[in-house]
Amino acid sequence: MNRVIGLETSCDETSAAVVARGATVLSNVVASQAHLHARWGGVVPEVASRMHVERMLPVIVEALERAETKASDIEGIAVTNRPGLVGALVVGVACAKALALAWKVPVVGVHHLVGHLYAARLACPALSDPFLCLVVSGGHTELIWVQDADRAYVVGRTKDDAAGECFDKSARLLGLPYPGGPALERLASGGDPGAVRFPRAWLGDTLDFSFSGLKTAVARFVAEDRGQTPLPDVAASLQQAIIDVLVQKTLLAAERLSARAVALGGGVAANSALKRAMQVACEERGIACVVPPAELCTDNAAMIAAAAWHRLERGESDGMELDALATEYLPAVAWEALR
Ligand code: KG4
Ligand code: ZN
Repeated sequence: MNRVIGLETSCDETSAAVVARGATVLSNVVASQAHLHARWGGVVPEVASRMHVERMLPVIVEALERAETKASDIEGIAVTNRPGLVGALVVGVACAKALALAWKVPVVGVHHLVGHLYAARLACPALSDPFLCLVVSGGHTELIWVQDADRAYVVGRTKDDAAGECFDKSARLLGLPYPGGPALERLASGGDPGAVRFPRAWLGDTLDFSFSGLKTAVARFVAEDRGQTPLPDVAASLQQAIIDVLVQKTLLAAERLSARAVALGGGVAANSALKRAMQVACEERGIACVVPPAELCTDNAAMIAAAAWHRLERGESDGMELDALATEYLPAVAWEALR
């Protein structure tokens, strides 16, 4: 199994990528719809599905061209089939099955979160199992213990909002455009992270997260402050509150599991202040820290192609039975059972 094409349409990015031997990215084309959803302040599922229909084929053609690969050189197809916006997933899955029939190659469905784990493997081929991965995006905040290519266990997750959701919703309260994360980071770069004391939800010494209280605290602060505190200070303080919890919980999990490597994944991992804080904290404890480049952190098809490679290499295929699923959780395991 050499060249695999990956397809990703679980949310608002239409992506196709060609990856060789599960490790070398030959192309990774991403058509983002973020600007289309901006006027509604969030992703509109129906709009996302329709845009995927329009863009999927041109994006595939571009991915093949950039990889200088003919359709006849593709030996397998990987597609995100769960979890995500079901109408959006269906577009990628239908396209993947049609290509599998036309090209007479196997097709494999990939769990979106497992895809995010593979971004770290693509970015750092020396990364060896087991490792701990913090996946932080608009829909997820999960601490995942990656045992090997087939086994990944959630040891902690958010009880309510995802970290990216907290960035987006708080940014909206501050009058920033969607998606809020990048806008908030830009604003925060000129602010004082100690200016406003926003709450941190520790949830005792569990490995779980909670960000809904922080969002409420921001709403209350905005209403009471009435614009007196400079916005960059508010943004920097809010960003710091999110980062403190993410870094401390990740290091607690790493310590409990005696992890030798920590990886980041998901759109929020594109945040430079988070990257820096995680790298410094890991370095102090002699733990390796892998942060993939931003284009592999946000939703992309290269990570999906890489995640499917082992199954395709073993000759597996999900065939025409493959279906899109809005919800599927990775197995959750108490950290005590993994030591
Ligand atoms: O992984 P992703 O592209 O899509 C999902 O699967 O959700 O993540 C998107 C999320 C959004 O919430 C966005 O605001 C956040 O990642 N994000 C950031 C940054 N870049 C993207 N959050 C904080 N700082 C950033 N630089
Ligand atoms: Zn994602």
